[in-house]
Amino acid sequence: MSNIVLIGFMGSGKSTIARELAKKIDYKVLDMDEDIEVAEGRPITEIFAEEGEDYFRDLETSYLEKIARMDHKIISTGGGVVVKAENRPLLHEAGIVIFLEADVAHIMKNVKGDTKRPLLKDENVEAKIVSMLEVRDPLYFAVADVIIQTSGKSVKTIVKEILALIES
Ligand code: S3P
Repeated sequence: MSNIVLIGFMGSGKSTIARELAKKIDYKVLDMDEDIEVAEGRPITEIFAEEGEDYFRDLETSYLEKIARMDHKIISTGGGVVVKAENRPLLHEAGIVIFLEADVAHIMKNVKGDTKRPLLKDENVEAKIVSMLEVRDPLYFAVADVIIQTSGKSVKTIVKEILALIES
């Protein structure tokens, strides 16, 4: 298998699952947001504030193009990577695409108090998540090779499910 690509909404657990999965298989974790921040020399909040979302989406596209030439990586993507149409085939080129599906309650628990996600800076975070999920969930489902329901499950259980899938 070339790479394992984790997609899903903000707070669905992509980074945590990536790290825990990497302890079980000989794959290295790449965190897309972190790598973009390092390459840009500024945090995502600043990239959004100074350049706007479209600029950030273009950075994601360039990143995916690089990933497609790698192997044995677990890639924790940013939650909005599916929004730009051009990114969707690139996700497939990069490897097996696993959608970590999460419900609003699960997401709310994980993003509570967060200040690093510019798109969740809203008076009513829950309503914002609901409306973003309406747009994004169909895209995640369409792009995914595999769907893992994460709500109410432990990280250990989710990792076990992923291992069973990739080892079958
Ligand atoms: C975004 C999700 C974030 C980050 C940026 C935009 C989004 O990543 O890429 O703030 O559009 O959903 P996480 O999913 O890791 O929070």
